[in-house]
Amino acid sequence: MPKSPSQVRRIAVLTGGGDCPGLNAVIRAVTMGALSCGLEVLGIEDGFAGLVENRLRPLGIPEVGGILNVGGTILGSNNKFNPKQAVIGKDNTGKPITRDMTELCLNTIHAHQIDAMVVIGGDGTLTIANDFAQAGVPCIGVPKTIDNDLVGTEITFGFATAVATATDAIDKVRTTAASHHRIMVVEVMGRNAGWIALHAGVAGAAHVILIPEIPFNLDAIAGHLQKRMQRGRKHSILCVAEGAMIEGGKQMISRIDPTSPDPVRLGGIGRWVADELEKRTGLESRSVVLGHVQRGGTPVPADRVLSTQFGHHAMELLISGKWNRMVAMQNNRLTDIDISEPAGKQRQVRRDEPVIRAARGVGTYFGDQVCEQVA
Ligand code: F6P
Repeated sequence: MPKSPSQVRRIAVLTGGGDCPGLNAVIRAVTMGALSCGLEVLGIEDGFAGLVENRLRPLGIPEVGGILNVGGTILGSNNKFNPKQAVIGKDNTGKPITRDMTELCLNTIHAHQIDAMVVIGGDGTLTIANDFAQAGVPCIGVPKTIDNDLVGTEITFGFATAVATATDAIDKVRTTAASHHRIMVVEVMGRNAGWIALHAGVAGAAHVILIPEIPFNLDAIAGHLQKRMQRGRKHSILCVAEGAMIEGGKQMISRIDPTSPDPVRLGGIGRWVADELEKRTGLESRSVVLGHVQRGGTPVPADRVLSTQFGHHAMELLISGKWNRMVAMQNNRLTDIDISEPAGKQRQVRRDEPVIRAARGVGTYFGDQVCEQVA
């Protein structure tokens, strides 16, 4: 492996974890940056699975031209594959049998004379990248997730697009809620963090926002909605994070995928909240789950810009020999942190977050017992 930046001739790029708007914009910035420094670029297909299965292809201007505004990833991605625990079958109790395929990946890296990797992904993918960094492969991480929950950076690309999609959905739901005098619950993604729900809820003027960081009380919400009704507000909009937490610490799990490194799939809370509120208030309620719609589609301009900056900064780190770092945004400035830092952690919303205080200030209710004004 190279000892200094001048020995880097060929790099590889991969996208891992759930897809996210802006991935292609990063691939484009990395590729164009590398080519302009005279480096060759290989794209690894479907995350780390492509290393195990030796599926790589050269990336040049024709491959990355016109992809800035295209959602998804031209390389494919994978949020089920961890080379350290690759699933190779099931035992007779149905439990997955796993094998460490790190060596196989390293063989592929050496066979293709890859001198460094740019790994675009969330905490799981970056944890794996750190394993390769420890094994001597220079790596640069680029933080990706619509959930915006990566430690060490105040923003990840894809978040702004997800918030725009969720806000648009809330705007649309509002007119039908108003026409039918209904409670409408919009469930959004976010894992154990409430960033999407908080921002889309504020942008869409939801009356109630439920996030995992502020456990909610159903009776308190029912009381709040009834007070709204008494004041002539005949419809109410709730924006609920998939990981929203019921007082007592319960979350709604839609399924467990034992073959995935991140086996818990959250979901179903929106429907449950709508049903329970209807029972408690007598007000007709409906729910909508936005799901993967939030991960799809064309990135908004802010994400195209952020992805381009992140990709460019990744290349700057790589060619200056600042290896095994993750690109980050702190205090609105591009910077970098150790690639191991986000491993196994999640950045949650703080209860004193300025956006929460502003939301409370305009009458948004978070389902807790904090004294609220009824908007
Ligand atoms: O981390 C992004 C995310 O979209 C989460 O918000 C969501 O819980 C999860 O991925 C869904 O993953 P999958 O692709 O397995 O459905």
